[in-house]
Amino acid sequence: MILPILNYPDSRLRTKAKEVDAVDDKIKTLVKDMYETMYAEDGIGLAATQIDQHLQVVVMDVPDSQDDYELLLKNRKNDSDKKPDTRHHPLCFINPKVTNTSGHEKHVEGCLSVPGYHAEVERANQITVEALNEQGEMFTLHASNLLAVCIQHELDHLDGILFVDHLSKLKQKRLLEKTKKAIKG
Ligand code: NI
Repeated sequence: MILPILNYPDSRLRTKAKEVDAVDDKIKTLVKDMYETMYAEDGIGLAATQIDQHLQVVVMDVPDSQDDYELLLKNRKNDSDKKPDTRHHPLCFINPKVTNTSGHEKHVEGCLSVPGYHAEVERANQITVEALNEQGEMFTLHASNLLAVCIQHELDHLDGILFVDHLSKLKQKRLLEKTKKAIKG
């Protein structure tokens, strides 16, 4: 089932997600719906917070290369069947914890909850994360570059933080004004 996504500046996006007690059928259905929603929107990651479910659950499918990522962005909202297949790495993180970070890198980020807006954010470029997968099994992942950026972005959502919070106050003010104008129409 495709679920509606909350949009900035909705205050529900500020909710801190709770730990999942058990990876039961309810959580498995949530994960399935989150994948469906993410793929329908051509996103590369989605946190449960964004669909108003305040549990520590994230799904992701990050393209192999920057070229594949750009192709995906270019084809977003293009409903033809000729969309290139750049989706191969479904990843689910339940109760994720970052155990190590190193380096710094700037990447242009976007977010399904902040449609049509992109900005450069500096984050660690290598991270180690521990989580449960959708079978409830513990795994450790060492990630770098776009994957590391995406994990940090999605984990922020679980803490009620959006990528735009990392921007200068002036940029945030401009975005908020633009968004309010758009909502008014
Ligand atoms: Ni996001």
